[in-house]
Amino acid sequence: MIVPTVITIFLLAVTFAEEFNDYDGYKVFRVQPSEEHHLKTLINILDNEDLDFWSPLRHDKHPVDVNVNPRGQSWFVNLLKNNSIDYEVLIDDVEKTVLEERSNQLSGLRSTKGEITFKKYHSHDEINAYLDKLEKNYPKLVSLETIGKSYEGRSLKLIKISTDSSAGKPVIFMDAGIHAREWIAPPVALYAIKELVENEANIHLLDKVDWHILPVVNPDGYEFSRTNTLNRFWRKTRSQGQTCKGVDANRNFDFHWAETGSSSRECLETYHGPRPFSELETQAVKEYILRIKDRVKLYLTLHSYGKMILYPWGYKYELPEDHEELQVLGDAVAESIRRVAGTKYAVGSVTSILLPGAGGSDDWAKGGAGIKFSYTVELPGGGSKGFDPPPTKITPVVTETWEGLKTFNDYIAKKY
Ligand code: ARG
Ligand code: ZN
Repeated sequence: MIVPTVITIFLLAVTFAEEFNDYDGYKVFRVQPSEEHHLKTLINILDNEDLDFWSPLRHDKHPVDVNVNPRGQSWFVNLLKNNSIDYEVLIDDVEKTVLEERSNQLSGLRSTKGEITFKKYHSHDEINAYLDKLEKNYPKLVSLETIGKSYEGRSLKLIKISTDSSAGKPVIFMDAGIHAREWIAPPVALYAIKELVENEANIHLLDKVDWHILPVVNPDGYEFSRTNTLNRFWRKTRSQGQTCKGVDANRNFDFHWAETGSSSRECLETYHGPRPFSELETQAVKEYILRIKDRVKLYLTLHSYGKMILYPWGYKYELPEDHEELQVLGDAVAESIRRVAGTKYAVGSVTSILLPGAGGSDDWAKGGAGIKFSYTVELPGGGSKGFDPPPTKITPVVTETWEGLKTFNDYIAKKY
């Protein structure tokens, strides 16, 4: 029995070396700030280690979802009560919900290699296999480029879609999956790829522009969030720090890096990393965009959740001088999405809606790479429960969002 015991102890040690062990006893609270001092109270506890803000805190006093570990629940509830902040328990048993969600979200129908179903959340390998298949089947329209490797060695495959790649047309660059747990983002990118490549009726969209799409910026984090229930809400990359793993890739870009709304504490969800572009994944995005930056007219990055279309700046409250045009285009996109099934997006600069968060890819694209049109799209969440929509909701989300993406396409095609 000695050997199995040694193995067990070893496995336990490995498990406990992780940042947390499971979601046993965790609860998600939906908190409703309704006055200015409520917001202040919540801002003060943003970096508390017992809390994980699932949806961002907003100036407009929108409700915010917070996952709270068992240790934090009594002080958290007391704080809310003492400040007369309304709340409800959104998820009473996070562990159970995650278990249910997983069997449902990952299993889905069995899929064939090289196919994306939009009926389940696919693995990074399945996503890359789909891109490979497109390159093989549509050699005139598609070319792939591995723009780098992730920390754990996964290929960052970018797909370029063009009817004439020698023409040097304006480029729309879009990425997704920079935050691991935001599972709905990669399918939205994949649906755009599918429509642009496989739906002949859309070929005219490519008359004036090319699309370059990286569907999973942070595959290590994405896969980690899929491997077992304990890791479902992983957000960061998986690089090794002194005591904790992972950097918030969306705080790691070199434009006002490490300023407001990012953390220098390694173990926090908004850790900006030891230096700008410390992460291979953000470096790869940077290097690729800089290589073709004169052609990139629109930068889009897909996140969840919150139904928002955001433009710079994210690091400060001032607006860029061309904010009116950014707002007009954002509004038009929101309207295209709303017309499908009534989903209402808020449109504005990051800091007109949210608290500042410096080091984001959107700010870098505009301020660092000089791309005039730069937007973060915060897709819908899971409604009443969970982080991402259940598999049956993937199709409604990707199809309505596609209408918005076409509006982006039309605007860029007309303008350049
Ligand atoms: N929820 C996103 C994040 O925290 C919002 C990003 C908006 N852009 C920004 N530069 N803060 O990463
Ligand atoms: Zn995000």
